[in-house]
Amino acid sequence: MIQENFNLRPYNTFGIEVFAKRFSAFASVAELKDLLDQRNNDPLLFLGGGSNILFTENFDGLVLRNELKGIEQIDENDSHVIIKSGAGEVWHDFVLFCVENNFGGVENLSLIPGSVGASPMQNIGAYGVEIKNVFVSLEALHIESGKIHSFDNLACEFGYRESVFKRKLKNQYVITSVTFKLTKQHTINSSYGAIETELEQMGITSPTIKNISDAVIAIRSSKLPNPAEIGNAGSFFKNPVVEVGVLKKIQEKHENIPNYPAPNGKVKLAAGWLIDQAGWKGKTFDTFGVHKLQALVLVNYSTAEGLDIYDLSTKIIADIKQKFGVELEREVNVH
Ligand code: EPU
Repeated sequence: MIQENFNLRPYNTFGIEVFAKRFSAFASVAELKDLLDQRNNDPLLFLGGGSNILFTENFDGLVLRNELKGIEQIDENDSHVIIKSGAGEVWHDFVLFCVENNFGGVENLSLIPGSVGASPMQNIGAYGVEIKNVFVSLEALHIESGKIHSFDNLACEFGYRESVFKRKLKNQYVITSVTFKLTKQHTINSSYGAIETELEQMGITSPTIKNISDAVIAIRSSKLPNPAEIGNAGSFFKNPVVEVGVLKKIQEKHENIPNYPAPNGKVKLAAGWLIDQAGWKGKTFDTFGVHKLQALVLVNYSTAEGLDIYDLSTKIIADIKQKFGVELEREVNVH
């Protein structure tokens, strides 16, 4: 049922109060098609978990929230299982389902906010793993024709926090389900420094996927604010990928700048480190600010306006450009 003048505050993890002209959730593809028939030329906005969006104004159109549920095993052999999940499943619930059933591959991605359908959209990643490592295919409804199309790994054109759905197919498809290939005999990925340290503290020498998941949950809980308590959308900026020359220049003054190899001979810098070094970490402006434990995360402490947070991000971008010659890019979608 379509509701009018609908408060989106509970549906975005930043907790920004804006209103949608019209709003409805959908729990089946038939319902989705029916809602699209009632669009009346309105602009459309699809929401999953609302964990990667910053609203800066009311939405003068139709907001549709993806609540397509269901997780099923569709195939298996001695070494792998193929699992298909509705796009509206909560990502972390899906991870817990996999860990409980001893299906490996997504344990490093524990506790990432958002929905299963959003995961391929921006190729979510954490602690050395990206969704593209376990992704088989997805189904998506083509809004204009109403047809369901299937996309395999290659067709999604995954990159760092990127896919074809953020680029040339932007706003053309609604992801309805995602299929993953998970392991029965696992390759444990504990190479990420923070995981190693956490496992040591837990006294674990040969970790299971449950141990990895627990370690990741502990690390994330210790430095990332829980959106249920403090409004935020995870990393607000992407980690910038730059030419080696840019790194060398910064190293003249900051020998210890963290950096990681990236494709095509480039290097990835840690945006959180740059913002931290520039003195922004923990800066608070009344109702909003930069998180005190992780400078990459902007937060809404209570009743901030989306524009306040947007303006803060603009100031940070300008300051980092001026201090380090690096152009930060927002990871969060701004509406
Ligand atoms: N750092 C600082 N100060 C800070 C934050 C970070 O000096 O305030 C330094 C850290 O000490 C470390 C480096 O920057 O040397 C990288 O920090 P961290 O390992 O915390 O990871 P990140 O690069 O800040 C990325 C992802 C996170 C993901 C973590 C773990 C992006 C934009 N962010 O953060 O993803 O959880 O790695 O793999 O790639 C998200 O996308 O919403 C997200 C939280």
